[in-house]
Amino acid sequence: MKLLVVGNGGREHAFVDRLRRDAPEARLFAAPGNPGMASLARLVPIGSDDIDGLADFARDERIDLTIVGPEAPLAAGLANRFQTRDLPVFGPTAAGARLEASKAFAKALMREHGVPTASYETFQDPSAALDYLAGHDEPLVVKASGLAAGKGAVVCETRDDARAAVEAMMVHARFGDAGAKVVIEEFMRGVELSVFFVADGERAVPLITSRDYKRVGEGDRGLNTGGMGAYAPAAPSDPDFIERVRQDIAQPVLDAMAEAGTPYRGFLYAGLMLTETGPRVVEFNCRMGDPETQVVLPLMRSNLLDAMIRVARGESLAGWACRPDERAAVVTVMASAGYPETSDPGRVIALPDFPAEEVVVYHAGTTIEDERLVTAGGRVLGVTGFGATLEEAGARSREAAERIEFEGSHFRSDIGWHELAPDRLTAAEVELLTSSGAPLAT
Ligand code: AMP
Ligand code: GLY
Repeated sequence: MKLLVVGNGGREHAFVDRLRRDAPEARLFAAPGNPGMASLARLVPIGSDDIDGLADFARDERIDLTIVGPEAPLAAGLANRFQTRDLPVFGPTAAGARLEASKAFAKALMREHGVPTASYETFQDPSAALDYLAGHDEPLVVKASGLAAGKGAVVCETRDDARAAVEAMMVHARFGDAGAKVVIEEFMRGVELSVFFVADGERAVPLITSRDYKRVGEGDRGLNTGGMGAYAPAAPSDPDFIERVRQDIAQPVLDAMAEAGTPYRGFLYAGLMLTETGPRVVEFNCRMGDPETQVVLPLMRSNLLDAMIRVARGESLAGWACRPDERAAVVTVMASAGYPETSDPGRVIALPDFPAEEVVVYHAGTTIEDERLVTAGGRVLGVTGFGATLEEAGARSREAAERIEFEGSHFRSDIGWHELAPDRLTAAEVELLTSSGAPLAT
């Protein structure tokens, strides 16, 4: 069997790693991949935006399944193009990817089908958006409707901040076309949780819950990033809670997409806010999370490739379930100097070996220069630690990160604090994490 993973980040490295376990005999390819994958897969120098190049490669090499990591090629119709050419692919079509690529579309679908989310309005005219703000309670969230590399949502404490955000997006086109339409929504108070599903067009099967840390600094301070770390399983993760999320959030979306004649097949990422009134959707993504994938996939006992093959063939997932192993995992992201505003390429990385049952290092922004491993992006490495407890997993992840060196590196040492340092939670937050009666992990 031949398998191709599209993308070059930590998430895709975790996919390659997972496929190696699910199909030890398979020949793996990654396009364009990164040096971390080189011992597991053949790296193919085709960018993830070169859809025709990827399709030609898949045809020439007779690839049995192409798995797409990032959202941009999915939104641009990679799955459509592959399907037209009879090439097996895992990932939603452009119609499905709109759940992520158009917040206006996702919000309208949720409103129409009663999926719990923040109340909102959509605007295409800046003066109408500014008028709306004037009469609205603070805080507010202003979001560019289109794809903005995870940076298009601005939480605004005051109306003045919200006005500035609207002007930046709609008048000064800070996110280009992505901000021509904005969604202004209610601020939801609570604790976030990521729940991923594999969807076959009709049914959604949940994976292991995780929680990611988006702010650059300890204590969730500083700028938003693509993600500075994550842990899994994350509370609440009991079957009753997961079933509620499946029924109230994932299923109505799948039903709506099927009804519209565009059945959703692929990963569905539900970014949730646990609130006093139950879980509500912050956002949907049409792919797995990064860095959550680096803690979710290694903990799966079930064969994920089997599920992806079924979905790509248009078959049912009935009977397939994600069986977690007993361990916990924490990933600490090591970033280069200046991240998230800038990055610092070309710094030599000193990477010791770690016992694989304790620590796996996923490459994100690395490259080889003069036969040396160097930084090549903002997020450089994802250091995943495993343990019998979350505490052990967290300690292994942090200790390993401390031993890896490159100039200017920075990372958060409090990943997983919701359950590792629960005294930092308010009583209301503890309630949200244990709402279905399940205890915190530690
Ligand atoms: P998004 O790009 O929609 O995922 O938003 C990025 C981050 O902004 C989320 O992970 C939340 O931390 C925060 N956020 C977005 N929308 C809301 C909301 N309605 N209420 C509270 N926080 C939000
Ligand atoms: N970890 C957030 C994301 O992948 O969008």
